[in-house]
Amino acid sequence: MVVGEENPWMSEISTTPSFVTLVLGGTGGLGAALVSALQARGETVLAVGRHTDPALDYTQAGSVEACAARVAQRLAQRGETLARLIVATGFLHGETAAGSRAEPERSWQHLEAEALAHSFAVNAIGPALVMRHFLPLLPRQGPCLAAFFSARVGSIGDNALGGWYAYRAAKAALNQLVHTAAIELARRNREAVCVALHPGTVDTPLSQPFAKAGLTVRPPEAAAAELLAVMDRLNATQTGGFFDHQGKTVPW
Ligand SMILES: NC(=O)c1ccc[n+]([C@@H]2O[C@H](COP(=O)([O-])OP(=O)(O)OC[C@H]3O[C@@H](n4cnc5c(N)ncnc54)[C@H](OP(=O)(O)O)[C@@H]3O)[C@@H](O)[C@H]2O)c1
Repeated sequence: MVVGEENPWMSEISTTPSFVTLVLGGTGGLGAALVSALQARGETVLAVGRHTDPALDYTQAGSVEACAARVAQRLAQRGETLARLIVATGFLHGETAAGSRAEPERSWQHLEAEALAHSFAVNAIGPALVMRHFLPLLPRQGPCLAAFFSARVGSIGDNALGGWYAYRAAKAALNQLVHTAAIELARRNREAVCVALHPGTVDTPLSQPFAKAGLTVRPPEAAAAELLAVMDRLNATQTGGFFDHQGKTVPW
């Protein structure tokens, strides 16, 4: 399936001044590009990262709940509606919460408990807590969207190469969480959209060590424009799906 034409129902979000888009991971490579693109369209955007105020750090107990409470307070004070929730957080390589270094595994010999735990904490458990604390902030009627950035390598059906165990498995878990949350969200608001999105390969700190010749690596600005175009075209019949940056369905 390919997402359809521009959806007037969803583009209502872009033209209503009291509608707010919240980008969690809005200080990352892709997240920051999305924030800029939305601001350039004149939309109200809140960008949250580990060092913003409010901040969000999945490795800190209570962080997701506290951040959601702050966002809810702002929305109530200003009479705003959270119309879009974009979750652009993620982890592929770097320092784990336990202080060790994690790299994508080329073999089962490289599997490490700390790296697995950190990948699941950032790519799956954190977004699951975002579902718990932020999805209830979406309106109970009218168009709204929750988009969680996943990755094609989280697709089991598409996995022909192997490797990258922790990231693949954590993104596969995220995909199941997104599909499950979409079912529950539809019971609250039949116009809501909740999807997993694959951004394609984008030139950010996450991908830089792995960008190989032959792979199409796009600047974050180009990827953000494509992802926004996909989000603008999604409608409630596509909720629970997994789409790439061109709006094409990715196999689970
Ligand atoms: N780049 C690609 O080629 C590519 C391909 C497929 C999928 N993706 C997915 O796209 C999304 C965005 O990736 P990106 O390329 O923009 O990566 P990035 O530049 O490394 O940004 C990662 C974001 O995740 C946040 N983050 C990391 N650890 C966190 C933690 N413990 N708690 C809360 N937030 C945390 C970072 O917060 P700070 O800003 O505070 O550091 C940052 O905002 C991710 O889900 C990634 O898996 C990217």
